[in-house]
Amino acid sequence: MAFELPPLPFDEKALEPAISTETIRFHYRKHHAGYVKKLNELIPGTHYAKMDLQQIIVEAAPHKSDRAIYNNAAQTWNHSFYWASLSPETQGAPEGELLDAIDLSFGSFASFEEQFSKTAADLFGSGWLWLVKGTDQSLQLLPMPNAGCALTEGVLPLLVCDVWEHAYYLDQKNERAKYIQQFFSRINWQFAAKNFASTNLN
Ligand code: FE2
Repeated sequence: MAFELPPLPFDEKALEPAISTETIRFHYRKHHAGYVKKLNELIPGTHYAKMDLQQIIVEAAPHKSDRAIYNNAAQTWNHSFYWASLSPETQGAPEGELLDAIDLSFGSFASFEEQFSKTAADLFGSGWLWLVKGTDQSLQLLPMPNAGCALTEGVLPLLVCDVWEHAYYLDQKNERAKYIQQFFSRINWQFAAKNFASTNLN
């Protein structure tokens, strides 16, 4: 089964001025598309060929010999989750049960923003910062290096921030903190709330 690059959920210009059209265009058309292409080159003839993307990620993760398959499968899935985590409109803060859960787990929404920003800034090298719901229902920040995907950790991902340099270097150069601030202002809280209400890993 060949995987396809899913359409962006918004126009490439939609995140201006927080994230530029050029950044979204390169990130989506070159990086995300590149992972999908590479994955489709790697899986034919392997036992992964009959699996869906999430199965490939979970099955390949423990096997060092399948690292390239894991990396490209996870990067394919992570990027789709990242686009969904972004909103063309500035939404401010979440509401309802998700906001209550953030208050309970992080003290307050302001404290959550502070911890989110610091954890993303402190993630060494390339990687992903996930907001996840654990099996005890608490929310946690989960920084993962390289192609790290929360699906391998038995937790429910709510949203993700891509902190690879390709996500911000055209706009912010080496200033990751500025990108994190812009990302935070465009978090799609409706997407996170939908995931929070879900009981299944998706
Ligand atoms: Fe990326």
